[in-house]
Amino acid sequence: SIEACLFDLDGVIVDTAKYHYIAWRQLANDLGFDLTHAQNELLKGISRMESLEIILAIGGVKLTDEEKLQRATEKNSRYLALCMQMTPADTLPGVRAFLDELKKGGIKIGLGSASKNAKVILERIDMLSYFETIVDGNRITIGKPDPQVFLMGAADLAALPAQCVVFEDALAGIQSAKAAGMLAVGIGEKAVLTQADIVIPGFADFHFQDMEAAFA
Ligand code: BG6
Ligand code: MG
Repeated sequence: SIEACLFDLDGVIVDTAKYHYIAWRQLANDLGFDLTHAQNELLKGISRMESLEIILAIGGVKLTDEEKLQRATEKNSRYLALCMQMTPADTLPGVRAFLDELKKGGIKIGLGSASKNAKVILERIDMLSYFETIVDGNRITIGKPDPQVFLMGAADLAALPAQCVVFEDALAGIQSAKAAGMLAVGIGEKAVLTQADIVIPGFADFHFQDMEAAFA
């Protein structure tokens, strides 16, 4: 039976992907090239420095380690400034209700995110108190698609991987969940999240019973 649910943050709890894109695109523009929406898709679930490397490769730009750190820090300041405009109303539709249902059903709730800003963002949208554990970019040593992030979450919640359901919008995140031996719910499109056990467009029309039925 399902004991715990582990949630990705960006793109699952809140739509921060649009802010990541604005800030990364600005960085690319500063370096003299553009970043398309499709290229930005490749960055979902990927750590800040790995994302920077992908962007620099797209632009064919070489930087020193010091310059990389500077650019990444600048990007993060821009990103955080955009995030600070968010309010609890920016929590994605149905998320709060679904987490309330899980709590009522006695299911443990954890966060599994690559972001180093996870706590700040959860505070901003007033969702921090829902999570019994937070595994974020400050704790993990290897990012998605490696299973570490979700295995740490399961361990914190004293749940077996096979009893965990992961909610993810990124391909790398679904791969991480499956590598951890967990059930994976994709948030987005079936055509993109091919390895997910089920794919839903969002939480607006998804309830505790739907999850239990899907994995019965
Ligand atoms: C992931 C996002 O959740 O966090 C990525 O999907 C992002 O786009 C990564 O790069 C790291 O985030 P942060 O906030 O530490 O720069
Ligand atoms: Mg995500």
